[in-house]
Amino acid sequence: MNKVVVTGGIGYIGSHTVVSLIEKGITVVIVDNMINSNINTLDGIESITGVRPEFHDIDMTDGTLLHRFFDLHKDADAVIHFAALKAVGDSSQQPILYYRNNLFALINLIEGMQKHEISNLVFSSSATVYGTPDFLPITEDHPTKRGMSPYGNSKKIGEEIIEDTVNSAENFKAISLRYFNPIGAHPSYKIGESPNGVPNNLMPYVTQTAAGVRKELSIFGDDYNTPDGTAIRDYIHIVDLAEAHVKTVERLLEDQQKSNFEIFNLGTGQGKSVLEVIESFERMSGQKLPQKITDRRDGDVEQMYSSTERASNDLGWNSKLGLDEMTSSAWEWEKKNRKI
Ligand code: UFG
Repeated sequence: MNKVVVTGGIGYIGSHTVVSLIEKGITVVIVDNMINSNINTLDGIESITGVRPEFHDIDMTDGTLLHRFFDLHKDADAVIHFAALKAVGDSSQQPILYYRNNLFALINLIEGMQKHEISNLVFSSSATVYGTPDFLPITEDHPTKRGMSPYGNSKKIGEEIIEDTVNSAENFKAISLRYFNPIGAHPSYKIGESPNGVPNNLMPYVTQTAAGVRKELSIFGDDYNTPDGTAIRDYIHIVDLAEAHVKTVERLLEDQQKSNFEIFNLGTGQGKSVLEVIESFERMSGQKLPQKITDRRDGDVEQMYSSTERASNDLGWNSKLGLDEMTSSAWEWEKKNRKI
């Protein structure tokens, strides 16, 4: 049986991926410092899969602790690295915190893996590495740009660190996954997105507003050059995204790569506007969402959506779930989580 270490495994994307891995018969070991996640998520994972994965509360910026962890798990076949700070705005206020956390953790991880001869790494990256797109849909060959926030830049630098490592070590292989906008929740509604504090992202803000936790949703700008004037993103169901990680691990373990460092975009290929997301949410939930139009948010891109060709052809992965399934599952999870 294969064993995979998942860092950030009780976070939003991590926990859904852990469920998909366990359902494939893979043994999962989680490393997480719970800085933006909740230990109760382990109960959700156990209740869905019948398996409670081994859990280690480790701050990965502590290299000694991480090395000790790998001493126990040197038989791991691969690592999926989600653990990171991810709030775009916050990262501009505290750049050093973000660089230290995200880059030290990655460097310690790679050192630990190399010392223990674990040679397969999946890196959780972001479409933010493309900056303002030069063309649409965005392919993996689209140039990467300096991140518009320290968070985004930490993803770009992280990819570069991994690429240099792969180039320097014959037996180290990695795949970087560039996510577009993951939303939604597991169909059991036992795990989902529950950010600490005020949400930065659209979907949790929408569901928390509908739940009465926030007064109203601010729509950041309606004067973009798009059909309805609001910005366009490529929203992808979290369960589809989780499945892509399973395919990625299989590709590494079965040596199917075309090169030792590969990159895949993970999106649906469909651009949806903020107003389209709200319309879907209102229709699926039967809730009227309090909302107002405000100024654009600094650093927001007008429009981005992914090319799906490479993920489909090489990874054999295609998204299956649509926007209505994303918004309705996000709402069901919010209600269940808040006992509404
Ligand atoms: N939006 C609102 N109101 C809100 C929140 C968001 O109108 O309260 C709008 C944004 O302006 C944007 C869209 O909803 O047009 C999506 O915003 P999100 O914050 O949910 O997502 P972003 O596309 O801004 O951010 C995502 C990831 C980041 C990543 C970034 C760039 O969450 O990790 O894409 O690729 F850095």
